[in-house]
Amino acid sequence: MISIQKAVIPVAGLGTRFLPMTKAQPKEMLPLVDKPVIQYVVEEASRSGLSKMILVTSEGKHSIENHFSRFPQLEEILMRKNKTEDLNQLNWIQSLGEFIFVTQPQPLGLGHAVLCAEKAVGNEFFALLLGDDIFDPKEDALQALIDAYISSGKSVVGVQEVPHDHVERYGIVNSPDNKKNMSWCVNTIVEKPSPNETLSRWAAVGRYILSPAIFKLLQETRPGVGGEIQVTDALSRLADQGELIACPIPAKRFDTGNKVDYVKASIEFALKHPEIGSEISQYLKNFKT
Ligand code: G1P
Repeated sequence: MISIQKAVIPVAGLGTRFLPMTKAQPKEMLPLVDKPVIQYVVEEASRSGLSKMILVTSEGKHSIENHFSRFPQLEEILMRKNKTEDLNQLNWIQSLGEFIFVTQPQPLGLGHAVLCAEKAVGNEFFALLLGDDIFDPKEDALQALIDAYISSGKSVVGVQEVPHDHVERYGIVNSPDNKKNMSWCVNTIVEKPSPNETLSRWAAVGRYILSPAIFKLLQETRPGVGGEIQVTDALSRLADQGELIACPIPAKRFDTGNKVDYVKASIEFALKHPEIGSEISQYLKNFKT
């Protein structure tokens, strides 16, 4: 079994939860200190050895494409001014992998965005990473899923337990029979159930390893929750076939699509930043409202 090489990263969403900020700027380009959120996701994929980053964008999201493309004029200026550290930052982005951009012509849902990547993926298992979910970079979230895929040969959904009143924000899989936090075979996965529809608190948290069989299932998937074509509905059919594994992700997660979590992530990433961490820590210690 060959390991995973391709990452599909949908970045075509409208980002309405962050309006007006996201009117002219994609939500994936919101900064966590000095890097856009999307770069943390790409770095996570790269750390797990993935080499082809397939970004599914929509019309008007040129800044994402620009961020991951070379900028020769800027490189030349930095070189001339001997700004080696800044230049290294730009080269670092290029070293993360090969970037492929595909367009989702209409906002028909996450499942449809994944379907737009079909040609670029081809007939192999791939990773799907959602841009809103960021994990602590010290803990390689995706690696746990790759390991589960290698040992099972099946598609994998990364899960974490969420508070019961949050289940309606997520795709929810059935709880495991054992309590040991090992991977388990998924019987059911439901998109955004209401809390009284499920006892499980195990939520899909934006990381998946998917079989290429998902594309045919997505083609057959009709619009679901929110009138959108949902990845979860296609995954539910994989689960019916006994082909889906749930894998707990042992890493701290931030939902940067949510304002409170985004601000918390900004604070934590600032505190850990080698250049500004101690100054921010001092500032917070002395902070009074
Ligand atoms: C999407 C998926 C959902 C998943 C969630 C994780 O929902 O549809 O199944 O649990 O991402 O963040 P969204 O947040 O796009 O509404």
